[in-house]
Amino acid sequence: SMNGYEHYMLKEIYEQPDALRNAMRGRLNDQDATAVFGGLNLTPQQLRSVERIILTGCGTSWHSALVGEYMIEELSRIPVTVEYASELRYRNPPIENNTLVFGITQSGETADTLAALNETKRKGHRTLAICNVVGSSIAQASDGGVYLHAGPEIGVASTKAFTSQCCVLAMLALYFGRMRHMSFETGGRIIEDLRRLPATIEQALTCDAEVRKVAEKYQSASNVLYLGRRYNFPTALEGALKLKEISYIHAEGYPAAEMKHGPIALVDADTPSIFIMPRGTTYDKVLSNMEEVKARGGPVIAIASSDDTEIRKIADDVIMIPEAPEFLQPIVSVIPLQLLSYHIAVLRGCDVDKPRNLAKSVTVE
Ligand code: F6R
Repeated sequence: SMNGYEHYMLKEIYEQPDALRNAMRGRLNDQDATAVFGGLNLTPQQLRSVERIILTGCGTSWHSALVGEYMIEELSRIPVTVEYASELRYRNPPIENNTLVFGITQSGETADTLAALNETKRKGHRTLAICNVVGSSIAQASDGGVYLHAGPEIGVASTKAFTSQCCVLAMLALYFGRMRHMSFETGGRIIEDLRRLPATIEQALTCDAEVRKVAEKYQSASNVLYLGRRYNFPTALEGALKLKEISYIHAEGYPAAEMKHGPIALVDADTPSIFIMPRGTTYDKVLSNMEEVKARGGPVIAIASSDDTEIRKIADDVIMIPEAPEFLQPIVSVIPLQLLSYHIAVLRGCDVDKPRNLAKSVTVE
């Protein structure tokens, strides 16, 4: 049931603190300052010998793969490649020995993701699934994997599966990091960061009223740009996809610095740009990207840290999000973007839970 929510999508957005608790339950080990997974079906020796990781999936799951790439490379220093499953299955890339392939999928039924895993498995590589639906085709076809435990996701637009996937990828990054160079202290700090996350998401959800105002203001836009850097670049892509699929507004996500290489030509008074810019290593750079857009007459909206009072002087609209370490920021900063697309879709009279032309699982290629 919808528990009093008007749409499944909204219910699932609000379920995210619990979904994250469920994804982490029993998987954080303070004794060893690492994560534990019951279903990888690989020996410690096999896991220790992993030299490369491929993350593959489609749509939103491909976006969480991009987040996972940044997390795993930063925390464990294992080189990661992200592939669209639909490309991986046909482009026949050379894959080195000791490569571990993860298929990321909410439904576990996506035809391209299944085929990409089967193709890499046929070549003799180990394949694991990061999957929500227990016993699904992809869960069965892989050598092992990690379930999200997010509960059923019914709204066609993926929300809690995305944040749960990012959370599982953060735990995998911790696990591989601790297997290599990461110290006990760093591992312990990451566990603390992860444990704080559900409460942080609860706090992030209180931006709803503010987001609704922004939705009212920009509901008639025909084009919207989403911009962010590092961990917030995949969030920009995800925010743009959410807006496209449920409100039918054209939107594009870009790394903020790519603007000057072309997309800035799109900027005009009717094209809002949403900057995902919580405090972090590239904050000043993104701020100057924002000033460039503003100087060309484009409305600018900031998704910013709650202590960033200066940003109000520059941005036309500001949505505040709570503090989080950089590697967990995508899980926090996607919350206002999910809510924004939800409210705009409702205001435009769109069928939020069943957008036109889309199906919940894409079992044909
Ligand atoms: C976006 C969305 C789709 C799915 C994609 C993959 O909101 O729902 O882009 O993310 O079809 O689906 P799964 O994760 O089930 O493999």
